[in-house]
Amino acid sequence: MKDIIILGIETSCDETSAAVVKNGRHVISNIISSQVDLHKKYGGVVPEIASRKHVELILPVINQALEEAGIKADQVDAIGVTYGPGLVGALLVGLSAAKALAFALDKPLVGVHHIAGHISANYLENKELEPPYICLVVSGGHSEIVHVKDYNTFETLGQTRDDAAGEAFDKIARALGLGYPGGPLIDKTARTGNSSAVNFPRVHFNDGSLDFSFSGLKTAVLNYLNTLEQKNESFSIGDVAASFQQAVVDILVENTIKAAKSTGIKNIALAGGVAANSLLRAQMKAAATENGFNMYYPSPVLCTDNAAMIACAAYYEFIRGKTSDLTLNAIPGLKLGEN
Ligand code: KG4
Ligand code: ZN
Repeated sequence: MKDIIILGIETSCDETSAAVVKNGRHVISNIISSQVDLHKKYGGVVPEIASRKHVELILPVINQALEEAGIKADQVDAIGVTYGPGLVGALLVGLSAAKALAFALDKPLVGVHHIAGHISANYLENKELEPPYICLVVSGGHSEIVHVKDYNTFETLGQTRDDAAGEAFDKIARALGLGYPGGPLIDKTARTGNSSAVNFPRVHFNDGSLDFSFSGLKTAVLNYLNTLEQKNESFSIGDVAASFQQAVVDILVENTIKAAKSTGIKNIALAGGVAANSLLRAQMKAAATENGFNMYYPSPVLCTDNAAMIACAAYYEFIRGKTSDLTLNAIPGLKLGEN
């Protein structure tokens, strides 16, 4: 059978990325140009700056991905691109580049849902993983438990009712003066502290839902810090980071295991930037093993935004004949399952 080569493009937030993936699962190149240093001084992503930087970087990044893969643009079988959800100005840059290439090269265009991309990152290194499985998707903008029924069929079983897990990590890191992006800094700082030093709240809903809520936890941590500050008392940054991280991870693991048990599905996967968290990976693995489930996760570089995951998701759309036309537009609030 002839190999299918997909060029993937991702610009939904602050990473400009292009990748070449063979037959959906084999990464040939994956170039990720992060703008983190640019946004750091503002404590978060500034959409206008992100769009401008994407414009500057998109063509060099695509060229580098093709060069590293040792192929010419006209050797790709299709072009996969994130068209939502994300920052509209940022999405438009990658989408316009993808449409222009598809038109100029007369190649099929495949629009990809960003979260479907994150989920697909699991296929790149776990060659044996196939649907169905339960995937916990936790990123800067999303926290949801997804039943991956097939490569292109998703059912959301639970989701955050307020902040995303990554957003909570970023806000608490800022309050602790750790910097941006907060997730990796909390992960690192937590190793120096005691995770049972402060008992922060874990929100459970009594309607049996698998939803999450992190805003109460965030407020509890901020109140804790403010109270100590007013009393002029010192605290251990390590203890607060570790106790906060433990509260987030406990609830993420608990609800994911519950979802697997209630559906009778034996495979669990992690996806999204927060899936790079070392405690989440270890605790989910332990809970999965204890309950007889298999556990999968991508390596950290494939957890955060990258185009290889987009090319992988595009492959599974492309082989079932689903392509997009050149009227494809960016949809900032695109829902999973709508694409
Ligand atoms: O998936 P992603 O790169 O972008 C979105 O689609 O949102 O996720 C970024 C989020 C940020 O909130 C970042 O703080 C978080 O993932 N993150 C982590 C870790 N690495 C990245 N959170 C916790 N622990 C980590 N090691
Ligand atoms: Zn993402």
